[in-house]
Amino acid sequence: MSSHSHDQLVSHKAGPLRGTMPIPGDKSISHRSLILGSLAIGTTKVRGLLEGADVISTKNALIALGAEIHRDNDGIWHITGVGLNGMVSPVTPLNLGNSGTGARLLMGVVAGQNITATFCGDLSLSVRPMARITDPLTEMGASVTSRGGGLLPVTITGAFTPMAIQYHSEVASAQIKSAILLAGLNARGTTTVIEPHASRDHSESMLRHFGASVEQQIKSDGTHHVHLLGEATLRAADIIVPSDPSSAAFAIVAALIIPGSEITLVGIGMNPLRTGIITTLVEMGGDIVKSNDRIEGGEAVADLTIRYSQLHGITVPAARAASMIDEFPILSIAAAAANGTTEMLGVAELRVKETDRIKVMADGLAECGVTVDHDDDSMRVSGSFITGGATLSAQHDHRIAMSFLTLGLIAEAPITVTGCATIETSFPGFANGLNQLGAYIRPRLTA
Ligand code: S3P
Repeated sequence: MSSHSHDQLVSHKAGPLRGTMPIPGDKSISHRSLILGSLAIGTTKVRGLLEGADVISTKNALIALGAEIHRDNDGIWHITGVGLNGMVSPVTPLNLGNSGTGARLLMGVVAGQNITATFCGDLSLSVRPMARITDPLTEMGASVTSRGGGLLPVTITGAFTPMAIQYHSEVASAQIKSAILLAGLNARGTTTVIEPHASRDHSESMLRHFGASVEQQIKSDGTHHVHLLGEATLRAADIIVPSDPSSAAFAIVAALIIPGSEITLVGIGMNPLRTGIITTLVEMGGDIVKSNDRIEGGEAVADLTIRYSQLHGITVPAARAASMIDEFPILSIAAAAANGTTEMLGVAELRVKETDRIKVMADGLAECGVTVDHDDDSMRVSGSFITGGATLSAQHDHRIAMSFLTLGLIAEAPITVTGCATIETSFPGFANGLNQLGAYIRPRLTA
């Protein structure tokens, strides 16, 4: 007897890709809409929420903290908030699963309230650094305990009155910035976060949408300064979530590297702090045409038409890294299909994502015949004959799983990826959507 395992997928040489596929809601915006809706007065309606595992973990945690959240039959989510001081201490630990964004942003929420909560997560989240969040929150007056100096489980008791701080972050991280701003909502005075480059600014836009006073400046040296006025009141405000450009990137790269492909993706988020991957792929010679530019729910969106293109290697500058931080795994697949070498600079942060994405991509690519090298902060991938034929583990990382499956679509021999259930984190329907375009990704037959 043989059976299918949906956790193990096999990706075969296929194509061309033709048509259109739905891209789910933006993960960053989905988390924030649930969080700000839960802190607001009134009921917020959210259309297009990503119903992936990470966002559901955040939703469950917010319910445990006192918010009322439900989905209606039309797929619209209704969030009735408790106000900025109305959360309760949950009776059991908040389990954020695989979600760094959920855990870190909610740490900021708890730090600004007079409550105590313990955070835990899966194997991947349990080895990711949390001190980068809890250090500034401690400065703001929260009490924190953690395992081994900054790992989950972390317990936070919020400050009675949080202190407004000015925080210079060493890394451009929207998670660090957002945690501090969320704690700062209840602080007296202005909370300031300064980051070396601008990271995604969905928190800033959405806080303004809910009525908070937030200012942003990018200085001539490239640093990004964000100021939030504390003792704020958030009022419910409806949200339309655009399709996630980070998820779209997998379909974009697949169409660029599979000969004869032409696909269209509709309503993709075009926030300039998220579109570094598009800039990069166009510089590499990618035929990506944007149309129907519009603003939906306060965020820029557009439709994209992508045609197969012979790509060439480029150097991706460090200053661009923050605007495409989640896209380096799939960029390294595009680079393997390009002529010449693609060099990615300033990418040390990739080592502390859901897994060490530099090492895992480099090892997997090498097993499939691709020439790669890397050091602490950079990675080089050379266009190669892609033999494939390997079995690669997703390492609890949705973007690694999707990147290796995309590589299989142009490899000489099929690539098997184990641990594919993690794709549910951010992109339910990934394999089916690509298959409908003409890809060939199938469950592995197990004995
Ligand atoms: C996110 C920020 C990024 C990104 C993550 C989502 C967010 O992390 O990698 O997938 O929604 O704030 P950092 O801010 O730590 O770079």
